[in-house]
Amino acid sequence: MTITSDKDRVVIFDTTLRDGEQSPGATMTHSEKLEIAGLLDDMGVDIIEAGFPIASEGDFNAVTEIAKNARNSRICGLARAKAGDIDRCWEAIKHAEKNRIHTFIGTSALHRAIPNLSMDEMADVIHQTVSHARNLCDNVQWSPMDATRTEWDYLCRVIEIAIKAGASTINIPDTVGYTAPMESADLIKRLIDTVPGADDVIFATHCHNDLGMATANSLAAVAGGARQIECTINGLGERAGNTALEEVVMALKVRNDIMPWSTGIDTQKIMHISRRVAAVSGFAVQFNKAIVGKNAFAHESGIHQDGMLKNAETFEIMRPADVGLSGTSLPLGKHSGRAALRDKLEQFGFEVGDNQLKDVFVRFKELADRKKEVFDDDIIALMRSGEDAE
Ligand code: KIV
Ligand code: ZN
Repeated sequence: MTITSDKDRVVIFDTTLRDGEQSPGATMTHSEKLEIAGLLDDMGVDIIEAGFPIASEGDFNAVTEIAKNARNSRICGLARAKAGDIDRCWEAIKHAEKNRIHTFIGTSALHRAIPNLSMDEMADVIHQTVSHARNLCDNVQWSPMDATRTEWDYLCRVIEIAIKAGASTINIPDTVGYTAPMESADLIKRLIDTVPGADDVIFATHCHNDLGMATANSLAAVAGGARQIECTINGLGERAGNTALEEVVMALKVRNDIMPWSTGIDTQKIMHISRRVAAVSGFAVQFNKAIVGKNAFAHESGIHQDGMLKNAETFEIMRPADVGLSGTSLPLGKHSGRAALRDKLEQFGFEVGDNQLKDVFVRFKELADRKKEVFDDDIIALMRSGEDAE
């Protein structure tokens, strides 16, 4: 059984509505979740993890509604390794034309100690729960939570059990963001080479960003053979967050020369969904966040602005339009030069000769030294005050 015939295609699994919503304070309302699911579906996300149906009545209802309204995406729900969780998950996702049960259990020694299960007892639970899920749904994903800190032999053993019990996707979570890129690639590669039946399933990577390596780890996992990346919009998620969808998708697009894998994402929809997720979760995007930050396509210094005005490729490796922005921004500040000031004045319809520009530039620098940011209105006021003085 081969799950994907296209070895160059990476499946994008978005968990903004499940792992993302687990960020303390990021709770979304029912209608907000439906809106975000609609946007994810529209932008070409392959699988939407819509929630954790056993967690609350609200989550169950949201996952059910998302499943009923899905158009292209597969709708997935999360379930612990318990029959009751799995049944509840199925009740919610069964309405979608394409669905998936995602069941998981913590397999590292630290996590095995919580339910106090021996290795053998846990192996039995995995066999029973994956089989149970597979009897309900023909698409089952299984995750050994804290996989990157699980003993190698045990990890191979439980993955083999899950595959035999019917899982078609094996997700390898780096639950605490502990792994490093070279390890991430090596782990997936060794699992695929070692575990019987591994060639018949898709390996997924699910990284957290505790050390700021989630994007690098996810891409390294793909280099190692993973073909599904689990991610969230804006990197929303527990603690330091999850892999950011916009980062892995744009990295695969911009550096396709060395990472020859494609996704089905319409990248021009990135900025809009980023802003909507920020608004409904209440988690503002940091200014210098890659791809979607306010400053990701902004250039303030004189050298950069001058370069950008002559050839945008001097300081931009992707076009703003590729992520849904209308253009580059050249905010004026104390580092800006004459070329950017002249350009800004021309945008407002002011034609200035060299002498006038010299004069406005001196006054502009004085202002920029006093203010953190010089706004469009400030520039217009500078011009007007100059004209009044003449
Ligand atoms: O980080 C994690 O381990 C998870 C699992 C539930 C897949 O989110
Ligand atoms: Zn997670």
